[in-house]
Order: sequence, then structure tokens, then C-alpha cells
Amino acid sequence: MNQSARTRVQQLRELSRPDRVFDFMLPAQSPVDVRHGPILYMEDVSVSFDGFRAINRLDLTIDDGELRCIIGPNGAGKTTMMDIITGKTRPDSGQVWFGSRHNLLTLDEPRIANLGIGRKFQKPTVFEALDVSENLELAMAGDRRVWKTLLARLDGAGQARIDEVLETIGLTAERHRLAGVLSHGQKQWLEIGMLLMQRPRLLLVDEPVAGMTEPEMQRTAELLTRLAGQQSVVVVEHDMGFVREIARKVTVLHQGSVLAEGSLDQVASDPRVVEVYLGGDEEASGC
Ligand SMILES: Nc1ncnc2c1ncn2[C@@H]1O[C@H](COP(=O)(O)OP(=O)(O)OP(=O)(O)O)[C@@H](O)[C@H]1O
Ligand SMILES: [Mg+2]
Repeated sequence: MNQSARTRVQQLRELSRPDRVFDFMLPAQSPVDVRHGPILYMEDVSVSFDGFRAINRLDLTIDDGELRCIIGPNGAGKTTMMDIITGKTRPDSGQVWFGSRHNLLTLDEPRIANLGIGRKFQKPTVFEALDVSENLELAMAGDRRVWKTLLARLDGAGQARIDEVLETIGLTAERHRLAGVLSHGQKQWLEIGMLLMQRPRLLLVDEPVAGMTEPEMQRTAELLTRLAGQQSVVVVEHDMGFVREIARKVTVLHQGSVLAEGSLDQVASDPRVVEVYLGGDEEASGC
């Protein structure tokens, strides 16, 4: 047998091995590489809108599995920072990396989402005319073939994932209720559940407890705390009572840059933070 025939036989043997695992048999996994560094790395990032620097030489690093709170006054650039990470806004300069492999500045919004970055906007965007589990099912499909997805039979793994997420977001008992009749807090948890269906590695959550009742806020604190570890979670929030509940490391943004970083007690006792954010602001003074 000549060399090329031998190679072909070897390839065939390799392909027909009974224990061979093909890529399509593996669960969907984000290929983000965090072995030697953080899950999110932003360096010297700036963006201007009509000459106004909304983000100004921002450096930010999030570790894998971390829960980070971002606080700061209105207009500090918190939402713009999330826009940059998710590809909605392109910075004028700087670097943004997801793990060590993915340069996010070379990717568009859908590609960034597919890599495993999920974003929760302030207003819940669930499908009100569908029930809770159907909303999760659609989110799992991850594309726009809505009716095809609903008409197709869900496989066992898909059903198990829905059950798991329902349990995580505390909506198991509501699975057959229409999303439209849920409370504001329940809609927010459902939307977080929809993001979880895609198994994100990094979740960006902008002002999750605005408009929530106290018990809803408490449950949201428990949920986000539980999610960290399995994924990295970045939470922007003004409600300092809530931040105190969940805070580990806190970053204070001001005029598009990091003003202070550390434990909540550390940043809250920083005179510069008190001056620009915590001082006279009624909403924020609960800290
Ligand atoms: N697309 C845009 N075009 C023009 N200006 C923008 C745009 N996006 C943000 N800005 C401006 O950039 C600054 C930062 O806004 P951003 O929404 O990021 O602040 P924020 O920290 O999220 O504030 P808040 O706490 O009020 O949500 C603001 O002055 C805002 O008006
Ligand atoms: Mg904002």
C-alpha cells in the first residue's frame, strides 16, 4: 500500500471509531479562552459623540465568573460602555477583548452575541402573547424562525434546559402563564432566563431593579448572585441598597473613566466618589 492510500485508510479508521465524538455531538460551547487572563479586557477605550467624550481612556477588566457592579452618576458612560462591549457602538480608539482570543472590535453585534455575551436592557422585552416556557424555547433557538421553532417538537435536552432555567429564575410554577400577565419583576427574570438559554459566558445587566418591589429586588439579588460563578455578570445599578446586597468588587465610572474601584466600603469612603456621586444624590445616598 502506498503512502497516500495508507493515510486514507487511517483517516477512515479514525472517522469510524465507535468512541469518536464529532463537533455537532458536543453541547454548544463558547470558545472563549480565559486560561491566562480575564474574560473581558478593555484598554484605553474612548468614544466621542459630536465632540463630547462619553468614554474617555477607559480601562476595565472582568475576571471569569466575577460579579461586578458598575455605579456612577447619570451620563457617566455606563450604558455606552455596554454598547461598546456588545458591538452596538464602535469606539474611536482602544482595545476590547473577550477572553484572549476574540477581538470584539472586529466583530458585529450578532457575532458578539453568539460568542456568549448576553445583554439585558432595562425594559423587559418578552413575547407577551406566548407563555413563559415558549419564551424560553424561542430564546434557545437563537434565531428568528419563531413559528418553525414552536411547531417543531422539542427534544429531551431542550426540555431539560428549559426546566433548569425555569428553576433558576424561579418561574417553574408560572411556566404555562402568558408572559403578558406576569408582574414587572417576573418579566425581568424571564428575560434573564431567555439570555441564559443561550448559555452566555458574560451577562451585562443594565439597571435590573428599576421599578421593582422590595421582595422582587431581593429575589433579583439572589438570582444574580447565584448566576455569578457559572458566568460573569456585570450589573449597572443606581439603587445603592441593591448594590449593597450583591456587591463584591465595585467600579465607579465618572466622565467616561474609572474613578475608583474596590469593595463598596472602599469606594463609598473615597472623597472623590462622595463628591461626584454619593454626596448630594438622594437616590444614591442610601449607601
Ligand atoms: N448615541 C449617542 N449619541 C450621542 N450622545 C450619546 C449617545 N450615547 C450616549 N451619549 C451621551 O454619552 C453620555 C453617556 O451616556 P450613558 O447613557 O452611557 O450614561 P449612563 O452612565 O448610562 O447614564 P445613566 O445612569 O443616566 O443611565 C451622555 O452624555 C449621553 O448623552
Ligand atoms: Mg445608562
